This record gives sequence, structure tokens and C-alpha cells, in this order.
Amino acid sequence: MNNPFESVFLDLQSLGKIQAFRYFVEIDSTNSAARRLAAENQLEWPALLVANRQTQGRGRGGHGWWSPDGCLMFTLLLPSSCLPQDRNQWGQLALVVGVSAAEAIESVCSGLDVLLKWPNDLMIRGKKTGGVLIESFNVLSHPAKDSMLFAIGCGININMNWHNAPKEILDRATCVSSNCGSPVQPQVILHELIQTLFRHLERWKTQSAEWYQAWNHRCFLSGKVVSINTSHSSTPQLIMGRCEGVANDGQLLVRSESGSIQPINVGTVVSWW
Ligand code: BTN
Repeated sequence: MNNPFESVFLDLQSLGKIQAFRYFVEIDSTNSAARRLAAENQLEWPALLVANRQTQGRGRGGHGWWSPDGCLMFTLLLPSSCLPQDRNQWGQLALVVGVSAAEAIESVCSGLDVLLKWPNDLMIRGKKTGGVLIESFNVLSHPAKDSMLFAIGCGININMNWHNAPKEILDRATCVSSNCGSPVQPQVILHELIQTLFRHLERWKTQSAEWYQAWNHRCFLSGKVVSINTSHSSTPQLIMGRCEGVANDGQLLVRSESGSIQPINVGTVVSWW
């Protein structure tokens, strides 16, 4: 099978970052495939799974992810040993990934500003160009039974043809190449992103708050008035206020009209202005 990511895989392997690779011309979802293969003991980790197309791409909050070719779609399967020992910090992983992705895109496309919309959207000129979906699970059949695995799923619109795009994303989405002014190779972005992410993971493990300063520097919502749905049910529970960035535990800080700051742990930003 022709694998356009082969040289990226081999290079990351020789750098000692990745143990196993899979490339799929078409798959339901790289996150689902990572979970299946790990459960069947068919994958060592860290592993990198890349898809050309997904038939059931998944996004946050039960949403789908439109997954044609032109979108870079991958899952990095990481054991918890790659994360800080303190489990309370694990919720920050999506933010560390977001910073790494933004830095990688900018380093490939000079002059581009990639911002981060809490918790894990990549934004270019006010439109979404990528997102991160992290799922964690245990593989009971594996010898390291206590090791938890993280499937870090990332979708980045690189060279998109919007012709068949669902109507609801057309106004809100953009892609890297149309902002860069020229076609961009997804392989180059992937290679840079994985290396940048491993650098950030190393520093994060040694308690450095570097990711958090970098995140706030790119915070798309800072200074904007936001409305956030924090409900887990179908009845929305909205919090409104002015965004003041994220705290070093990853919570979004929102200042209400009364002046008090409310940290938000989980939620969806429904509007901003
Ligand atoms: C979001 O913004 O809601 C997150 C989108 C994450 C999409 C990626 S594409 C690769 C991986 N496989 C999936 O099914 N989803 C993630």
C-alpha cells in the first residue's frame, strides 16, 4: 500500500518517539482504531495512526468530524508514563496538544497566526482550522495493567476542497493552505507537530508552566465576552462574562458582571463577541 507518511513514520521511529505506525486510506475513526488495535494487543505505544479519510470521524461533545482527504487526521496513542505523575494534571493534555499544533503550523507557514479557542480548537483569522479529541482507556490484557492510554485525536484542515462540506461548517471553518497562500504538505505539519508535542510533554512532566504561558499568549477568547454552556444534559446552563484566559490548571477564567472570576472546568463556548 502506498503510504504518503512513510518517511515521517520512519524518521519519528529513528528519533525514538514512536514505536508503531498505521496508515489507513479509509477508516471509521483513527481514535476508534487506536482503541481497537490496542485492546487486541496489535499495537505497541507510543503509536501514530494516520488516515487519508474517515467515515465516522468524531469530534468533542458527541459531534461528528467532517473527514475528507485534505484534512490531516491522526491519533497519537500515548501511555500515561509520558504525562506528569500527578493525575490531576492530565486534564491539561488537550491544551498542551493545542499549543504544540499551533506552534507546528506557524513554523511551517511563516507569517500565520494560529490562536487557540478553549478548550482545544485551532483558529486562523477567527475560523476553526482544527480540533483535538482526547479519549483515555485501560488495556487490561497488557502486562503494564496499571498504565492508562491516551488516544490524542487531531484533525487539521490543511488543503480542503469545501465543495461537499456540510452547510453548518462552511461559514465557521477554514484551512491552513488558503491562509498560507500555497499548498501545504500535511506530512511536514505532522512531523513538526509530533516533535513539538514531545518537547512540550518533557517540559510539562518537569512541572514547567511553559505550556500555560504559551496557551494564554494564543488565547482567542481573551478580552471577549463569552457565553459558555456548562451543562451535561440537554438543558443548557449558560455562564456569561469576559474571558481572562486560562488558569495553570487548564480552567477557563471568566469574569462576571459583578467582577468575580469564575473558573470553568468543562464546557462549550457557544458564542463570543
Ligand atoms: C473537535 O474539534 O471536536 C475535535 C475533532 C477531532 C477530530 C480528529 S480527526 C482524527 C481523530 N479521529 C477522530 O475520529 N477524531 C479525531
